[in-house]
Amino acid sequence: MKLSKTILSLVISATLSVSVTAMADEPIQPVQAASGINTAQAELGKKLFFDPRLSRSGFISCNSCHNLSMGGTDNLTTSIGHKWNQGPINSPTVLNSSLNIAQFWDGRAKDLKEQAGGPIANPGEMASNHEIAVKVLQSIPGYRKEFKAAFGTEQIDIDKVTQAIAEFEKTLKTPDSRFDQWLKGDKNALNQTELAGYQLFKETGCTACHYGEAVGGTSFQKMGLVQPYKTDNKALGVYALTKNEADRYKFKVPTLRNVELTYPYFHDGGAQTLSEAVSTMAKIQLGKDMPQDQVDKIVAFLKTLTGKQPQFTLPILPPSVDSTPRPEPFK
Ligand code: HEC
Ligand code: HEC
Repeated sequence: MKLSKTILSLVISATLSVSVTAMADEPIQPVQAASGINTAQAELGKKLFFDPRLSRSGFISCNSCHNLSMGGTDNLTTSIGHKWNQGPINSPTVLNSSLNIAQFWDGRAKDLKEQAGGPIANPGEMASNHEIAVKVLQSIPGYRKEFKAAFGTEQIDIDKVTQAIAEFEKTLKTPDSRFDQWLKGDKNALNQTELAGYQLFKETGCTACHYGEAVGGTSFQKMGLVQPYKTDNKALGVYALTKNEADRYKFKVPTLRNVELTYPYFHDGGAQTLSEAVSTMAKIQLGKDMPQDQVDKIVAFLKTLTGKQPQFTLPILPPSVDSTPRPEPFK
């Protein structure tokens, strides 16, 4: 492993500049800006992401639980959905979610398009169904025009709806964090404490699971690898899909990009602060009682992973018309 890494960097340094070699040795890579986006679909998807008419109450949009003013989360322990339903699990961020190997804590949706159909029809979330959601959109002339521009037809179906939302989500990358500036060679981008935190993050073994462009999102790992995690939350992780005992409490390793913004932490929202989350991780994943000054340094490093947040004008949604199905009265 060590040898092949050395050979790799020798090969790279023979062909590329020195700063690129230094970066290739790091377990974390900079977030790339979104590319290859279908703009018409993404613009439409942005409107759909903000449109509460996709919910039965006419009140809840994707942005309600993945608030793009708050790091793509709701900052709640577990989400609140239809009729104030307290959801079973913490809402992960939609920022950089295109980098995930699969979607949801247990990975049950293979990609963003498949994921986007879920919440619209989930009784505890938006509580609509695909038929009604499509009917609502189809009735709105402004949407018909936009679907025509994005897909070449005014015929709306759930496949196009989820495709457009997924295309918008692909734009939600957060490049240019201070840490990425450092990776790219700006050695003044981090202070001594933050750098020490990064060293600790690597030396302690956090990078065994949190690595790559998203600093996570690439594997499923047991929560409580060394010591069991104590929680009242009922989620079983990947076991729920496979019924394989080895998958019990295996969850997707979350991205640590923008983690300063996405509190509270863990699938059950059980850690309110970053400090608490880091200290718990060290203990139950790596068997280490980490002194507070080390925890503080890692937290300082993690805060340098906050990238440039998506910038756009709040979309103005095309109005309903007389024939648009109305939200269900709240009883
Ligand atoms: C009522 C709150 C709520 C609403 C509304 C909602 N979500 Fe979510 N979302 C969640 C929760 C909670 C999860 C995690 C569920 C799980 O893993 O079992 C999640 C998971 C996701 C994920 C997976 C992220 C990851 O890292 O695995 C994506 C992407 C996402 N939602 C996008 C959307 C989109 C698009 C919409 C609108 C169509 C939407 N959500 C509506 C609460 C919500
Ligand atoms: C064996 C794999 C593994 C190791 C090692 C590991 N983590 Fe994690 N980390 C996970 C998993 C899995 C989760 C999600 C667990 C859950 O919510 O059930 C997680 C969650 C987190 C979270 C919360 C993120 C969020 O959005 O909820 C933080 C912060 C974190 N880890 C930091 C660290 C730090 C710092 C270290 C080193 C001290 C570390 N992790 C070591 C697998 C690991």
